[in-house]
Amino acid sequence: MKIVVSVGGSVLARDLSPEKFKGYASALIEISKKNSVFIVTGGGRAARDYIQAARGLGADEATCDFIGIELTRLNARLLIAALGGVAYHEPPLNYKEARSAGLTGKIVVMGGVTPGQTTDAVSAVLAEYTGADLLINATSIDGVYTSDPKKNKDARKFDCMTPRQLIEIVMKTEMVAGANSPTDLLAAKIIERSNIRTIVLNGEEPQNIVDAVSGKYCGTVIEK
Ligand code: UTP
Repeated sequence: MKIVVSVGGSVLARDLSPEKFKGYASALIEISKKNSVFIVTGGGRAARDYIQAARGLGADEATCDFIGIELTRLNARLLIAALGGVAYHEPPLNYKEARSAGLTGKIVVMGGVTPGQTTDAVSAVLAEYTGADLLINATSIDGVYTSDPKKNKDARKFDCMTPRQLIEIVMKTEMVAGANSPTDLLAAKIIERSNIRTIVLNGEEPQNIVDAVSGKYCGTVIEK
């Protein structure tokens, strides 16, 4: 199978612990034995801190996004360092470079691409463009809920849902400032238009990714 994994910066690089990166590297090497694997890393807290500093300096939003992208690429570089020789040596800067890098048979790790979106959208477009069989979104919650479970204790988790339901949930969540959306709207729309089989799962434990690939663990499965 061809698999794209989106790893939230908040789970991978919360405190820049080498152990966390190594844990991720082992899980990704495990799934790469039988699959071709592309990873998209998020920026996490460091990206938010840098963006806040840039805003404080009067930078426009696109400039803030470019700064965020740099941070996602730094996390990609750390993961490449943890993976060693099995990873493609550089984070590709765009989808075409990523697809070419994938032809080497190495694990490809990249960050953001363009302002106005997040790495969720990058992973969805990459999955579309590389013809991936599965998109995994490793995040800080264990699936998609009817509303933000960190804010609403009555929120219910979906075991499975359609891309259309995902779009409706994301639109509802994104309306609330500061809410934790399971994915961004652009990603949800791309998942819908290409019917990309997607699993949203808890990325705090990288073994969950290995289990999801072998069908043992599932957060929320999104498919038509
Ligand atoms: P993330 O994808 O990490 O954002 O990108 P996020 O969803 O807020 O964070 P986590 O990692 O899941 O907690 C960080 C920032 O980088 C910019 C955006 O400003 C984004 O908020 N970015 C990222 C882009 O502008 N374009 C991209 O393609 C990716």
